[in-house]
Amino acid sequence: RVLRRTALGALLGAASGLARAAKPAVLLRFSHVVAPDTPKGQMALRFQALVHERAGGRIRVEVFPDSQLWGDDDEMEALRLGAVEMLAPSLSKFGNAGVPEFEVFDLPYLFADLAQVQRVTQGAVGRGLLQRLGRQQMLGLGFLDNGFKQMSATRPLRTPADFSGLRVRVQASRVLAAQMRALGARPVVLPFGETQRALASGVVDAAENPLSNFLTQGLAPWQPHLTLTQHGYLGYAVVSNPRFWASLAPTDRALLDSALADALAHGNRLAAALDQQALATLRRTPGVMLHQPAAAERAVLRRAVQPAWDGLRRSLGPGLLDDVQNALI
Ligand code: LMR
Repeated sequence: RVLRRTALGALLGAASGLARAAKPAVLLRFSHVVAPDTPKGQMALRFQALVHERAGGRIRVEVFPDSQLWGDDDEMEALRLGAVEMLAPSLSKFGNAGVPEFEVFDLPYLFADLAQVQRVTQGAVGRGLLQRLGRQQMLGLGFLDNGFKQMSATRPLRTPADFSGLRVRVQASRVLAAQMRALGARPVVLPFGETQRALASGVVDAAENPLSNFLTQGLAPWQPHLTLTQHGYLGYAVVSNPRFWASLAPTDRALLDSALADALAHGNRLAAALDQQALATLRRTPGVMLHQPAAAERAVLRRAVQPAWDGLRRSLGPGLLDDVQNALI
């Protein structure tokens, strides 16, 4: 009888374990558009691992990288409709989604380094910006860095004359479009997931990317010249659906909040290292030519993109820009 009871207990235990594994209380789908081996990809995987470790099967996180589930054009709508629970779009993509204040991050040469970025994103200005996402039925949960963008093309891009007439892929941001026009190029808005194909087929001639994205998208064969312009910042806001977040049991919500805070800290620590690693890999990659603009060339580019600043001041007014600039110091 003892034996039978033990066997039955084991069976029931296994069955309930199976039930737990098969049907978690909460399913959280996290969709993003980049490769796993990037700051965002690694942050999402760390978040998944931490949640699974801490929730013991109650909460399941599924991560979909590389636009496998949703892409730039439909991910925010999918979030509002409940077809995905978590995203981390680049800050550049929120302007077009009805929160134009986020385009301030696209201003060329605004930030000198990631420490300056974090003074903005991790302080009062950042908290205020996350709150504004509520206007578009998104719950802003935190910021993540990728790094600084570099220009790529089939030729070096050191001076405004080098940009003349080039079709350059940009994210859907008015500031980025204004920046490219100010340089004499033609901005072409394309989802991230279509960029590699567009460069390969010659639909566009040039692009701006942080090095981890340039490397993991395999852009080098079509964009052999990489000019280290370091001209603009690329980072992300993690967002969820406010109804989903409110529907969680308080303990589950607290668990997700703390796992995300830890995953974001991990991603933010990793960002600069992945950028350096990508640079080292690209330096060793046959056929890739890296160009370092001289200080004088950088100054000319910086002056040339002033119209992008003027446009943002006109559309947003000076308030937010002043707040951001005050937070830098
Ligand atoms: C882009 O579209 O270039 C980036 O926003 C992609 C990303 O998410 O890093």
